[in-house]
Amino acid sequence: MQIQWYPGHMTKAKRAMQADLKLVDLVIELTDARLPQAGRNPDIDTMAASKSRIILLNKSDLADADATRLWTSKFEENGLTALCIDARNSNFRKQLLEGVSKACCEKLERDRRRGIQSRPIRAMIVGIPNVGKSTLINSLSGRSAAKTGNKPGVTKGNQWIKVDKQLELLDTPGILWPKFDDELTGIKLAAAGSISDEVLNLQEVAYRLLRYLHAAYPQTADTRYKDTYNENTASWMENIATQRGCLKKGAEPDLEKASKLIIDDFRSGRLGRITLESPMDASSGWS
Ligand code: G4P
Repeated sequence: MQIQWYPGHMTKAKRAMQADLKLVDLVIELTDARLPQAGRNPDIDTMAASKSRIILLNKSDLADADATRLWTSKFEENGLTALCIDARNSNFRKQLLEGVSKACCEKLERDRRRGIQSRPIRAMIVGIPNVGKSTLINSLSGRSAAKTGNKPGVTKGNQWIKVDKQLELLDTPGILWPKFDDELTGIKLAAAGSISDEVLNLQEVAYRLLRYLHAAYPQTADTRYKDTYNENTASWMENIATQRGCLKKGAEPDLEKASKLIIDDFRSGRLGRITLESPMDASSGWS
């Protein structure tokens, strides 16, 4: 499948973020726990090289808990402080503050040795569109901050949100577009809704997703789409379309409608808790 991908506004977003990065000590990067690698833009490693870093695996309520544990360990092995969260629910606040102290321990220790009364750590949230940046800011600030949408940030006046005496957040998150040149990464991003539905062939995404589910989580698709399985994926899709009432005139299966239904079932968690890539082998289960 050819994905037409035009990261046209990327340059503007990166420039805005580079300016904002100068203002902070710590970068809190969000990725999607269902696709922890595909859901990151690797440019962040160079852009934030001089900063303390935390990575949050968000939407962990939708991801496979065992896979999330493995991913968290992998990020930790690579020197990042990693936590899994559900940004809609502020339960993770205490853990995050502990993570901030851990990630910034050198700065805090330096200040302490110099007898400097520590000022709050200043942090910025970054991540790809729809990964949950606004939700996280809102949960941490306990209010409904301005919704940024998926437009490059134009930082107006840099408002700081006080999370506690130890941490302040820049109210404008940094938006990084996903970056990919391999088809599989594109499919995963598409399945999770991290790239616009208009740039994809939804049927191809749904086919690939179904095959992956059958290989990696056989019970999930088989339970939701009971008695529809056929080893020929096109026939499987037709059976699902018929069973779920996705029909065109003349009772012909509507595969576009069925594709949307399957992708939506995955995105909303109705298929269960699923992770699309393993830290050992990101292409495992995909065909
Ligand atoms: P962004 O700023 O990074 O672009 O993302 P945003 O916070 O707008 O979140 C994108 C969608 O993801 C929202 O759903 C939000 O509710 C959902 N979301 C964020 N964090 C989590 C999480 O940890 N778990 C789950 N399950 N969902 C999460 P939406 O349907 O687009 O909007 P809404 O109707 O919920 O407001």
